[in-house]
Amino acid sequence: MSATTDIEAVPQTRYSIETVDLNLWYGDLQALADITVKVKQGIITSLIGPSGCGKTTLLRCFNRINERYGNVTTTGEITILGKSIYDSDVSLSELRKSAGMVFQRPNPLPISIYRNVLFGVRVHVPCRSVSRSQRDEMVESALREVDLWDTVKDKLNKKATLLTLEQRQKLCIARLLPLKPRVILMDEPCSALDAEGTEKIENLLDTLRDKYTVVIVTHNMAQARRASDECMFMLMGKLIEHDKTTEVFLNPKDERTEMYIEGRYG
Ligand SMILES: Nc1ncnc2c1ncn2[C@@H]1O[C@H](COP(=O)(O)OP(=O)(O)OP(=O)(O)O)[C@@H](O)[C@H]1O
Ligand SMILES: [Mg+2]
Repeated sequence: MSATTDIEAVPQTRYSIETVDLNLWYGDLQALADITVKVKQGIITSLIGPSGCGKTTLLRCFNRINERYGNVTTTGEITILGKSIYDSDVSLSELRKSAGMVFQRPNPLPISIYRNVLFGVRVHVPCRSVSRSQRDEMVESALREVDLWDTVKDKLNKKATLLTLEQRQKLCIARLLPLKPRVILMDEPCSALDAEGTEKIENLLDTLRDKYTVVIVTHNMAQARRASDECMFMLMGKLIEHDKTTEVFLNPKDERTEMYIEGRYG
């Protein structure tokens, strides 16, 4: 893959993510079917649906992480920040900087908190081009943005694995930020957390709105309702409904959406 286009340099559009007729197969198994969607910039969009309906698969399409799994075939178009991500001049590394990902298990590396925050920078940017004071600034700014600075500022050299699960998940979000992402993709980021930790991550999500476009997969209907501006409901690889979250929950257009949010299946 050539690395000639900085995906962040493309003009801003109203939509951060757009797909047209997106299909994906794992071998013979079709996991996504004809998904056409536009995800608006600077809002939080939740992605809901029963287990196995393709939520993680769709999220992974947005930064082409699916390609790490063998036997994946994709057809259709995906545009991130106005640029087709399958264009031959798209750099996967730039794409993944622009569209960072947070996973179910808070998975910081078993190295210091400081080095965790800088891990992505070290991978993507030549070390010598970033001074020590710039690195310190990046760490402080990222940790402040996720409301972790006051808690960890005196133990930056301690291992990240000593943090609580909620703090670890905040750290996983923090380590995306020095790469200046525009899109943050979260796959059930609270599923390993207790109610208190979940509330703290939801509060954090609220502060990320506007600056970032966030897509969050969740099984927690209350969370989708509380935390997202728009909601997408998927079923068996298809996008059934996509609307303002209040509409999806209070006035669903499709009977299958209604059944799901009422807990009648899934
Ligand atoms: N790497 C893979 N190889 C083969 N099949 C896969 C792979 N990943 C997912 N699948 C299959 O694709 C379908 C969609 O899976 P996906 O993980 O995207 O669903 P999901 O909605 O995220 O489910 P959950 O809510 O359980 O996380 C499922 O049938 C799943 O078994
Ligand atoms: Mg999943």
